[in-house]
Formats: sequence, structure tokens, C-alpha cells
Amino acid sequence: MKKVLITGGAGFIGSTVASALLDRGITPVVLDDLSKGRAEFVEDRIFYRGDVADAALLDRIFAEHPDIEAAVHCAAKIVVPESVAKPLYYYRENVAKTIDLLDSLQRLGCTRVVFSSSASIYAPTPDARVDESSPVDANSPYARTKQMMEQVLQDWTRGEGAEHQRVITLRYFNPIGADPRLRTGLQDLNPSHALGKLIEAHSTGAPFTVTGVEWATRDGSGIRDYVHVQDLAEAHVAALLRFDEVVAPDAADRYRVINVGTGDGTTVRELVTAFEQAVGAELDVREAGPRPGDVIGCYAAVDTARELLGWQPRRGIAEGVADALAWRAKWAARLGV
Ligand SMILES: NC(=O)c1ccc[n+]([C@@H]2O[C@H](COP(=O)([O-])OP(=O)(O)OC[C@H]3O[C@@H](n4cnc5c(N)ncnc54)[C@H](O)[C@@H]3O)[C@@H](O)[C@H]2O)c1
Repeated sequence: MKKVLITGGAGFIGSTVASALLDRGITPVVLDDLSKGRAEFVEDRIFYRGDVADAALLDRIFAEHPDIEAAVHCAAKIVVPESVAKPLYYYRENVAKTIDLLDSLQRLGCTRVVFSSSASIYAPTPDARVDESSPVDANSPYARTKQMMEQVLQDWTRGEGAEHQRVITLRYFNPIGADPRLRTGLQDLNPSHALGKLIEAHSTGAPFTVTGVEWATRDGSGIRDYVHVQDLAEAHVAALLRFDEVVAPDAADRYRVINVGTGDGTTVRELVTAFEQAVGAELDVREAGPRPGDVIGCYAAVDTARELLGWQPRRGIAEGVADALAWRAKWAARLGV
């Protein structure tokens, strides 16, 4: 494979995927409207600024790059509370616009699509472990856009005129860290997820609060599956390189879902301990009840990724923390803050 379209390739995950492709000699062609992506992340890359729903722009991209062999669709709005406040905006951006993008990809003969989905669509399970056949029951408008799109994509591959369309959906768990070469990372210096709060507590001396301490986990705190974003990016490379084996052009079912996590659950308290070890300092840790919308969480069964993609995660939480901190320092200096 020589060239791949990446929507949302100026964002956190898409830019890391683009770097991982470049490292393997595959040229990424980035399409991003920069609503959240950063121009700095695409400075030295083939880049089109615009909307995934812009059919004329897709025509131009494929006219200028007829050798694009696959599309990785990362572009989306991703903030859960915002999706609760503005559901129509989220359904339009993540569902309606993706449908327009699929129309363009089909018209332009781009038959391989890798879709960014999310572990947040899984229904809670008694032991928090989920495989690809576990029930889904998204609990926010954001997560529902992902669950809906998965259904749309599956139906699409079964429709008339889409006999050549094939889709691999990657369900991401909780990405942490940054590109180990620090080309790109998170746009926000103070992200709202647990690791972001830990970094903030460490850098300001403020307390870190474990929200929710009575979940049915080994220590009562919520559980997640923190996958290094570079490992996640490499899963995309594997999915692209093995695409035709995973979903053959003449396969009866041309839609495939694959979990991308570490296979290990980490509770919030365990994350705190791992963070303290990584930075060599103790934090002021407090406890509180769960916030509205909090969930017990889940972690991935990753046998499918191992078998189909020949992929497995290579980096642990300590590396995720170290790369997140190194990126944050570099990015803050670049932003001049
Ligand atoms: N970050 C996570 O924890 C996580 C977890 C699971 C799944 N995902 C999924 O991974 C994908 C990438 O997430 P991310 O964390 O990199 O977010 P991000 O916001 O950094 O990246 C999304 C990118 O898409 C672009 N974009 C949004 N709408 C667009 C549109 N209509 N046209 C063109 N570009 C548009 C934004 O400018 C941004 O650069 C998303 O689909 C997200 O749902 C993320």
C-alpha cells in the first residue's frame, strides 16, 4: 500500500496514525477542517483543509491522488458533555457527514475503509471485560453516533452498488501518551480525562480526586484500558497492510469489528499508583462520588486483533505517562505558555 486518505489527520489520533504510516513508507493524505486539528501537525504533510462532507473536495483529492488505496476515517466531534448539550450537532457532524463521505468514497472507487469507533459503545458487563460480540448500549449522544455509524457501515457493505466496499471498524479503548518521537500529541495541555487530571495535579500541586469509589471492581474505582496512542496507530498500519486478508474482496461479510486495547484493565487507583511511580512523586489523592454520566468502564479482549492483525500492544502505562509529559512540555513551549 502506497497512499492512504486520513480524515481528521490533524487531530490527536489521526496525526499519530499519519506518522506511523510515514514510518512504514506509506504516504498519508490528510483531510481535516482544523475545527480541532492543528495546522502544526500537518506542516510537512499532504494536507487538504475542508469538510469530510464536501463532495467536490473529495473529487479534487482523488483527482490529485488517484493512487489512494484506502481511507482511515478518524474525523469526528468527540466531547461527551458537548454531545449531551448539542445532540443534533453531533448527529450531523458524526453521522450525516460520514454518510456523505461514504457516498464520495464509493463514487471514487475507494473500497477499503478503516473506521474509528469507540469502546464507549459497550454495555456494562459483570467483569468489565468486553469482546467484539459483547452487547453494545451507548450511553451518550457522542457514543450513539459511533454505534449508529457502525450499523450504517455494516448495512452499507451489504447494499446494492456497494459490492466492493469493505470496512474494518477499530474500537479504540483509552488512548494515552503521544508519538514517542514527539511529532504530535494532544492539542489540549489540560485534557479532562484521568491522566490529564493527574498531570495537572502533579504540575500544580492540586489534589487529584478519584470520582466513584464504589464500583464493582477490585478496588472500587472505575476501570479503563489505557492503550498507548502509538500502539493504537500501529494497529491501523497493521489493519491497512492486512486489509485484504482480514476482509477479502469477495468475502461474504465485508464488515469486521476489532477491539484495540491492551487486554488489561487498569483501575483509577492503579493508574494513580502507576503515575506516581512514573514521575517519582506522591500526589494528594482524595475521594468523591461518581460524576453524572460516569460508568464503571471496561477493558478489551484483544484476541481478534492478535489473530487478524498480528498486532499486540508493546508499550505500558509508564511509557504512556512519560510520552504524555514529554509532549506536553514540548507543546507548551511551542505555544509559548
Ligand atoms: N481520543 C479518544 O479517547 C478516543 C477514543 C475512542 C475513539 N476515538 C475516536 O477517534 C477519532 C479521533 O479522535 P481524536 O481523539 O484524535 O480527536 P481529535 O478531535 O483530536 O481529532 C478529530 C479531528 O477531526 C477533525 N474534524 C472534525 N470534524 C470534521 C469534519 N466534519 N471534517 C473534517 N475534519 C473534521 C478535527 O479538526 C480533528 O482534527 C474520533 O473519531 C474519535 O471518536 C477517540
